[in-house]
Amino acid sequence: MLDNFMIEVNNLKKYFGDVKAVNGISFEVKKGEVFGLLGPNGAGKTTTIKLLLGLLEPNEGDMKVLGLDPNKNEIEIKSRLGYVSEEPLIFKSLTPKDLFNLVASIRGLDPEYVSNRAQIYLESVGALEYYEQLIATLSHGNKQKIQVIAAILHDPEILILDEPLSGLDAKSVRVIKEILELHTERGGAVLFSTHIMEIAQELCDRIGIINNGKMVGIGTIEELRSQVDQMGGNLEDIFLRLTEQDTSVNEIIKKLRKSFKKGN
Ligand SMILES: Nc1ncnc2c1ncn2[C@@H]1O[C@H](COP(=O)(O)OP(=O)(O)OP(=O)(O)O)[C@@H](O)[C@H]1O
Ligand SMILES: [Mg+2]
Repeated sequence: MLDNFMIEVNNLKKYFGDVKAVNGISFEVKKGEVFGLLGPNGAGKTTTIKLLLGLLEPNEGDMKVLGLDPNKNEIEIKSRLGYVSEEPLIFKSLTPKDLFNLVASIRGLDPEYVSNRAQIYLESVGALEYYEQLIATLSHGNKQKIQVIAAILHDPEILILDEPLSGLDAKSVRVIKEILELHTERGGAVLFSTHIMEIAQELCDRIGIINNGKMVGIGTIEELRSQVDQMGGNLEDIFLRLTEQDTSVNEIIKKLRKSFKKGN
């Protein structure tokens, strides 16, 4: 493994019965980089992330996280990694303060340090007022902010975020972007998944476009653009073209328009 690779994935495959959720994916995430997995619903993003966390076992392929095998070194990897799942928080009967204290005790962190850090982060994303409010009563976006903060309190080397920003307002996305930048400037790496092209474009150094369990494009925006016939266009055009959705979207829209016409 080269020293600057924090994550390495080579020809990874995961099947659920007949469904080839991940079907031969390869990519690397380098030190200091924000890497985005971009793909439509069902593309295989969450499955890839769960494989990297050792929550699933692959059918085939190799992967290394911090040079370690996720299926053999799950505990060490977890201590050096922060993870935000796509599922809503499970600790709904806690307040953010309780949750951060729990994280501190599980990870063996100084409670005072954690409390200070957490409140600085909360203030920066405009959520300090919810510090002692039950998580269950918070809005979707505010729950996501709490999850992101809980995942970075221990200063992990790698942050893995599964659709973390879809419910956040523009200002909070900016702040989270800052937080991710601070993290990568200090030598950390970020892997996150999204189906939102603008978010990928704004936050990622490099993007891997996933479709039907396969990587159909990988690189910086400029590199991806040149993969699509040097035709330019915005990321949305590129994304739809690489995932072969551009014609099907047009057909769907045509059909919709037709059926609405008939309905009147
Ligand atoms: N536990 C499971 N059992 C059976 N099929 C599964 C399971 N988990 C995922 N799949 C299937 O694998 C494929 C990839 O799912 P995955 O959750 O990885 O997609 P995704 O890219 O994260 O999508 P989304 O944007 O909707 O979150 C889908 O067809 C899904 O139905
Ligand atoms: Mg998903």
